[in-house]
Amino acid sequence: MTSSTPPSPPASKASATYQAALERSDAIAARIRTNPEEFKMLTGERPTGALHIGHYFGSIANRLKLQSSNVEILLILADYQVITDREVAGDIRGSVRDVILDNLAAGIDPDRATIFTHSSVPALNQLLLPFLSLVSVAELQRNPTVKEEATTAGITSINGLMLTYPVHQAADILFCKANVVPVGRDQLPHIEQTRVVARRFNDKYGATFPEPSALLSEAPLILGTDGTKMSKSKGNVIELRMSADETAKKIKGAKTDSERQITYDPQSRPEVANLVQLIALCEGGDPYAIAEEIGDGGGGGLKRRLTDAINTHFAPLRARRAELSADPAIVDDVLARGNAAANEIAEATLDEVRERMGMTYP
Ligand code: TRP
Repeated sequence: MTSSTPPSPPASKASATYQAALERSDAIAARIRTNPEEFKMLTGERPTGALHIGHYFGSIANRLKLQSSNVEILLILADYQVITDREVAGDIRGSVRDVILDNLAAGIDPDRATIFTHSSVPALNQLLLPFLSLVSVAELQRNPTVKEEATTAGITSINGLMLTYPVHQAADILFCKANVVPVGRDQLPHIEQTRVVARRFNDKYGATFPEPSALLSEAPLILGTDGTKMSKSKGNVIELRMSADETAKKIKGAKTDSERQITYDPQSRPEVANLVQLIALCEGGDPYAIAEEIGDGGGGGLKRRLTDAINTHFAPLRARRAELSADPAIVDDVLARGNAAANEIAEATLDEVRERMGMTYP
C-alpha cells in the first residue's frame, strides 16, 4: 500500500455509526438478560503475552458475566493477527498458553467455552477468500483502527495481512455464526466490516450469516503505572500472574503527583485518578469515597492501599493460575478439545458456503 490512504469518514458519520452500535448494544444487553439462549458470543484476542489487569477489568470481567448468564461462548486466540503489525512475533505458543491460563484462572469454564487458535482451523481461514471478494481495497484502506494501529506500531508500510485483517476477523466471527461480539470501541470498525461482509454475502448468495452486533462494555479506560495507555512494551502493566511482591514493586514505581491530598479528578490528575479507580474496581467501592478516605496520605498512602487492593482481589485467581500451570496437560487438553470443536463448526460452515456459491465438486 502507498502512503496516501483515503481519509477516514467525517466525525459526524463515525459518531452516527457509534450511536447506532451503542443502541444495538444496549438492546442486546437487555435481551441477554431475558433470553440468553438466543445468543452465541464470539470473543477474541491477540496472543501477545500474559494478560494484565486492564484486560481483566476491560474484557474478562464482562466475559465472566456473560458466562454466568448462560450465553454460549467461543474464545478465539487470533495468532495470525499477531504478525500483522510487528516484525518479531515473539513466543506465540507461550503467549497462547498464558492467555488461556489467565482466562481459566479467572473462571472461564472450558466445559462451556470453546477455546481455540485460528491458525488451527483451516476452514475458518478459507472463508477469507470469498469474503475478500466482497470488500473493496478503498474500504480496507479507510479502516480507522488499522490506520491507528499502524501509526502506534510505527509502521510506514502496511502489509497485506494487516490491511485485510478486519475481513479475517469477520471470518473469526462468522464461521460459527456468532451474533454478539463483546468489544471495546476501537474494535467497532471491524464489527461494522463484519456486518457488511455478512450482508453482502447474504444478498449475493442467499441468507447464510447473521449480522452480528457489538456488545460494548462499560469498562473504564485503565492506564498503565506511568499514566499512559497500558502496554506490555512500555513496561507499565500489572500482569494478572504477578506475585504480591512484584505487584508492590510495580506500584511503588507508579507515577503520581506532588500533592499530598488525594482526590479523584480524572481531568486534572489523571495518574492519581487512575490508581484510585483501580482501587475502586478491586474493592468494589466508589472512587470519590476512596480518595477521601486516603485523604492526606499522599502518594505513599494511595500506593499502599492499591497494592493491598490488587493483591487481595487477585489472590484467588493467582493461586488457581499457579495450580493450572503446574500441569501443562491441562491447557493442552483445553486447546485440543477447543480446536476440534471449532474445526467441526468451520467445516460445516465452509460446506454451506461452497454450496451457496456453487462450488461443490466430486
Ligand atoms: N482484533 C482484536 C484485538 O486486537 C482481536 C480479535 C481477533 C477479535 N479476532 C476477533 C475480537 C474476533 C473479537 C472478535 O483485540
